[in-house]
Amino acid sequence: MINKIQGLITEVEAFSSANVEEIEQFRIKFLSKKGIVTDLFNEFKNVPQDAKKEFGLVLNILKNKAQEKVEFLKQNIEEDESGKVKIDLSLPGDIETLGTRHPISIVRNEIIEIFTRLGFTISEGPEIEDDWHVFSALNFAEDHPARDMQDTFFIEKNPDILLRTHTSSVQVRVMENEKPPIRTISPGRVFRNEAISARAHCIFHQVEGLYIDTNVSFADLKQTLLYFAKELFGEKTQIRLRPSFFPFTEPSAEMDISCSLCGGKGCNVCKYTGWLEILGCGMVDPNVLESNGIDSVKYTGFAFGMGIERITMLKYGVRDLRLYFENDVRFLRQF
Ligand code: PHE
Repeated sequence: MINKIQGLITEVEAFSSANVEEIEQFRIKFLSKKGIVTDLFNEFKNVPQDAKKEFGLVLNILKNKAQEKVEFLKQNIEEDESGKVKIDLSLPGDIETLGTRHPISIVRNEIIEIFTRLGFTISEGPEIEDDWHVFSALNFAEDHPARDMQDTFFIEKNPDILLRTHTSSVQVRVMENEKPPIRTISPGRVFRNEAISARAHCIFHQVEGLYIDTNVSFADLKQTLLYFAKELFGEKTQIRLRPSFFPFTEPSAEMDISCSLCGGKGCNVCKYTGWLEILGCGMVDPNVLESNGIDSVKYTGFAFGMGIERITMLKYGVRDLRLYFENDVRFLRQF
């Protein structure tokens, strides 16, 4: 008897239809006054005492399942005037596709993670800035070419207001508001008046860093950047510093890493030099410390800045900067 009911449960579970007639027949067969379930309940009095409990249990399961099935199938049906079913339950459902992180976000997060491990905090600031925070506080001479309209987007009505060309402006804000020791990085979006091509864009992302304390030396800068390069590009990575110029650092340098693609042997990405330029850095110019109210006799510091787009290109072999902004999912899904 129990087996029979279990067989009926299986039958109920397997039943499916999008046809009103068929569902009604199913309901009559199982749930009407003369249906299977009622018949079985009538049987109950004939079941031996010791089997009553189990019998009742499975019978209730059968009843509930049959009721649920009828309700479920009815809910899924909508009829039009002709009585034909509109919804085809046999059609596959809509598939929800999962998105992926943008490569710039992936690399930015990785860079942030490395520097937070070294004790750097994260600072953010406005994208629309004034001349003081982007240039003057950073020791840019009045006639420095970076102030030229060629490089910077100024607000027409007020040339004192501009779109930041680097996130060094955020570090000026940190120096204004905090006392050394300062150890912070500022990730963010920056803007430059450049013609858009495979190698340049008017919008890109940077991570800049600033470390000010007593006795901060060039050796600290080198060691920090070496650690960073190895963490991001692999243990075998080597670094090389070349003298350079920035208004806000003295001495200044540009840092290359050994080419991650050919391992330093020479390839078309490193233009057969074995080295790739990835960031600018240097010791904070005492003028900058003084402009921001920090005693340049007591304190020294280092700073560095890098473009995330460029680092992402090197890490993943992306050949065209414009791909980052087009949001073509065929590109974005690869990361
Ligand atoms: N601010 C520089 C740039 O945008 C990068 C930099 C930061 C260089 C700090 C040296 C020190 O190119």
